Amino acid sequence: STGRHRDHMGNEIDEQPAVARRVLDVFTPGIADGRLWGGAGLPPLDEIDRVTILGCGTSLHAGRAVAGVFSRLGGLPTRTLVASEAAHEVWEPRTLVIALSQSGETADVLRALDGLPERDRTLLALTNNPSSTLARRADAVLDCLAGPEIGVAATKTFIAQVLTGACLALSGLSASARADGLAIDGDLRALAATPDALAAALDAWRGRAAELATEFVTSPGFLFLGRGSGLVYAAEGALKLKELSYRWTEHQPAGELKHGPLALVDAGTPVFVVDNGDPRLEVDVAEIHARGGRVLRVGERVLTVGGLPLHLPRTGPSWGPLETVVPLQMFARELALRLRRDVDKPRNLAKSVTVA
Ligand code: M6R
Repeated sequence: STGRHRDHMGNEIDEQPAVARRVLDVFTPGIADGRLWGGAGLPPLDEIDRVTILGCGTSLHAGRAVAGVFSRLGGLPTRTLVASEAAHEVWEPRTLVIALSQSGETADVLRALDGLPERDRTLLALTNNPSSTLARRADAVLDCLAGPEIGVAATKTFIAQVLTGACLALSGLSASARADGLAIDGDLRALAATPDALAAALDAWRGRAAELATEFVTSPGFLFLGRGSGLVYAAEGALKLKELSYRWTEHQPAGELKHGPLALVDAGTPVFVVDNGDPRLEVDVAEIHARGGRVLRVGERVLTVGGLPLHLPRTGPSWGPLETVVPLQMFARELALRLRRDVDKPRNLAKSVTVA
């Protein structure tokens, strides 16, 4: 791809606000009247008892974010499956299965679907490749419109999958009695604000990601914490950093800290905290500070009142604080560049994993 960076990944990170704009331009007009859902050929949500979402790696994380829209907003029983562990699943009738795969060729995803019965369920492929094997096997296909992604690390396709999935879910919920109308309005406003939020995160972190990468270039390990809707972004940040830098990373629900992971935190330990506005994160942050850990917050919304910072709790959209993934991607890339890794082609990994 063309852009300011010599590597594809840097350019693909930069493209994210434009990708988000494209996805929303195409899909948001079909939300309010349920046209996107119906047009994809899906049965009305009131005829579905549960949603099962599956994928691997970054696509799994995107699926977890989309699951939040069905479950938090629609109260619909929704589970996410690690596709590589789903070979022996028992599939119940009236299930909507959403398989997420950028390539549509991931063998673990295809194999997970081998056991899916032919009848009384619907399989939707959410993919960046509408002519893929996965798309051909599905009852309905939604192209996430990210455009070609060359870097092995998924970046813009993650944004595209989350937004496409969120639009689809909101469209299904708009036409059903399940969702709370007010919450849909809030999510629609959040969708519209997303391209600018992604662009603002890029601008805010360009220098900072580079500085932090220099500061932590010798750190052997990194912890990523979140709560609720922030957790998938902590997981995605941890995946990106290990994949690119070959450093050990771990993600945890922040509430689990005191049940074990806090023992990892020592003077100077870098701890990324994904802030989704959950006020309990302040206590988690204080715990880390008390052990000398270095808290790196992403997604904070800080206002100052009389010169003092005031952390505002906010209720984010049902898919969580999507823009927080941008600084985590940027940091992973900057650290990898300092460690002289090939950011477009990390060792041991392939863009499309076609063996199970
Ligand atoms: O093509 P897929 O989305 O099915 O690929 C799934 C994973 O292999 C992929 O997301 C992988 O985790 C990425 N390299 C992460 O950056």
